[in-house]
Amino acid sequence: MRFQEELAERIAAATQLSAEKIAAFLEIPPDKKLGDFAFPCFSLGKNPHEAAEQLKEKVQLPPFIAKAAVIGPYLNFFFSLPHLAEATLTEVYQQVDFYGKQDLGKGKKIVLEFSSPNIAKPFGIGHLRSTVIGNCLYKVFSFLGYALISVNHLGDWGTQFGKLLVAYKKWGNKAALEREPVQHLLEIYVRFHKEAEQHPELEDEAREAFKKLEEGDKASLELWELFRELSLEEFRRFYRILDVEFDTYHGEAFYNPLLDETVKKMQHKDLATISEGALIVDLQKWNMPPLMLRKSDGTSIYHTRDLAAAFYRLRHYKPIKVIYVVGSEQKLHFQQLFKVLELAGVKKDLFTHVDFGLFRFPEGKMSTRKGNVIFLEEVLDKAVALARKVIEEKNPALQQKEEVAKQVGVGAILFADLSADRVRDVEFSWEKMLSFEGETGPYVQYTHARACSILRKAQKEHNLGVSPLVNFATFNLEEERAVLALLAGFPDVLQKVAETYKPHHLAQHLIALSQAFNEFYHKCPVISEQMHTMKGRLLLVQSVRQVLKNGLQLLGMKAPEEM
Ligand code: ARG
Repeated sequence: MRFQEELAERIAAATQLSAEKIAAFLEIPPDKKLGDFAFPCFSLGKNPHEAAEQLKEKVQLPPFIAKAAVIGPYLNFFFSLPHLAEATLTEVYQQVDFYGKQDLGKGKKIVLEFSSPNIAKPFGIGHLRSTVIGNCLYKVFSFLGYALISVNHLGDWGTQFGKLLVAYKKWGNKAALEREPVQHLLEIYVRFHKEAEQHPELEDEAREAFKKLEEGDKASLELWELFRELSLEEFRRFYRILDVEFDTYHGEAFYNPLLDETVKKMQHKDLATISEGALIVDLQKWNMPPLMLRKSDGTSIYHTRDLAAAFYRLRHYKPIKVIYVVGSEQKLHFQQLFKVLELAGVKKDLFTHVDFGLFRFPEGKMSTRKGNVIFLEEVLDKAVALARKVIEEKNPALQQKEEVAKQVGVGAILFADLSADRVRDVEFSWEKMLSFEGETGPYVQYTHARACSILRKAQKEHNLGVSPLVNFATFNLEEERAVLALLAGFPDVLQKVAETYKPHHLAQHLIALSQAFNEFYHKCPVISEQMHTMKGRLLLVQSVRQVLKNGLQLLGMKAPEEM
C-alpha cells in the first residue's frame, strides 16, 4: 500500500472523514524540514490549530512515520528513516522495471490522439511537441493500467488538397516527388500561393479540384493516395527516431464515409441551421462562432470530420476518455466541438483537449505557407551532432559513442519539451538544452550513468553486488532521507501526471531526484570501509538508477549506462 493511503486510513480512523477525502487533503510540504506529509485540519472544526493538537493525540501513527508535529493549522508527519528505507528500497528492488506500475485503469479504455501531422506538409515543431507529450502520456497511462488506443489523426483531407492537385498538374515532377516528397509538395504549394496572388482564378480551380476529389474522382484520388503514402513514409522515419508507434493512422479522410450520417444526426437533433447557404450549428448562446458542417458548395471541413471522428471513436472503442494532444491555437476549435457533442447528448468530460504552447527555436517561428520552415530532421541532426561533440570532449573513450550521442541528443530535445508546464511557451536554447548541468535531459541521463558507474566499481573493486538484505538502521543522514522520499514519491508523481495530463511533473521529479542523489553522492561516500553502510548505500544507488531509468523510459527517453 502507498504511504499516503495508509496514513490517510490512520487519520480517517481518528476522525469522521473518509480515507479518500483525507488522501485528497494530504499535502507534501515543499520544504522537507516541515515534514513529509501535511494534513490541513480546516475541515475538523472551527479552530484548526486546536483540531490539529487533538488529532495528534488521537491518531495511531503507522510504523513508517516517526513523529507528528502541529504547525499552525496543520498536522505534519515525518518519515521514520529506517522504515522508509526498508519499504521503499525493497519495493524498488523487487519490482525492478515495474516499480511505479499500478492498476488504476484496469478495464478502462482511453483513446489518445497525438502527433497528427498534415500530409504533404513538413512535420512541424508543433507536431513534434504533440508527439512527445502524447507519447509520454501514452506510456504513463499504460503504466497505470489503462488500455490505450493511440490515434494519429493525419491531416490528409481538406481544401489544401485541391490546391496541391492543381499545383501538381501545373508544376509537379514525379521523380522529385519520389525523391523528396514533402519537400517537393511544399515547393509547389508555396508556388501555388505566390502565383495565386497574381492569378486569383487559381483559387477557384483549386476549390473545383477539391470538390471533384470529395465526389470520388478516380484520377484525383490516385494522386492523393500517392501524396499520402509518400508523406507518411517520411513521417514514419521520425517516429522510428523518436521510437513512437501508433495503433491507427486513421486520418481525416477515413471519416469521409461517415460525414453524411453525422450531418444527418445533427439535423435530427435539431441542431443544424442554414446560414448564408452553409449548414452550421449555431453556438451564439455560448459566445462562440458557429461550427460549420457543410460549406455552401457542399464540401466538408475540418470540423465536420472531427465531429464524425468523435462519434466513431465513442462507438468503436467505447472509451472512458478521448484525449486530443493539440496546440493551444486550436482551443476554440475544440471548445466548439465539445459543446456540439454535449448538445448532441454526449456525456460532458468524456473529451479533453490537452493543449500546449509554442516551442520557439532561435531560428525563428515557422510558417508553411511562406516556406521558411525548419525541417525536423535538421533539428534532430543538429541535436545529435552537438551531443556527439559534448561526448567527445567529456568521454572520448566511450564505446558506442554514436548510439549514445543519438540517445542524448534526441533525449535533450524531448526533455526540454517535457520539463516545462506544457501550456507555457518554451524558449529553446541549444546550449542550455544539451548542458550536463541544470534542468536538462543529459543531466538526468548523466546521473543515471553515474549511478551505474558506482555499481560497476563496487562490483569490480569489492566484488560486491547489490543485495536487498541490508541493515536499514544505517540510514540516518538528511541527504539519504531526501533521496528516499523522492524514490517513495515516484508512483504518486505518475498519478499526478495522469490527473493533470502534464508530463513536467515527472520530468521535474527526475530532476529533483538527480539533484538529491548528487548531493548525497558528494557528502556520503558509497564505497567505504563500513561494510553495513556501504551495502545500504549501494542498494540506495541501485534504486536511484532504477527509478531514473523507469522515469526516463516513461518520458520516451533512453537511459544509457555510460556516457
Ligand atoms: N492536423 C492538424 C494540424 O496539424 C492537427 C489535428 C488535430 N486533431 C484533431 N482531431 N483535430 O493542425
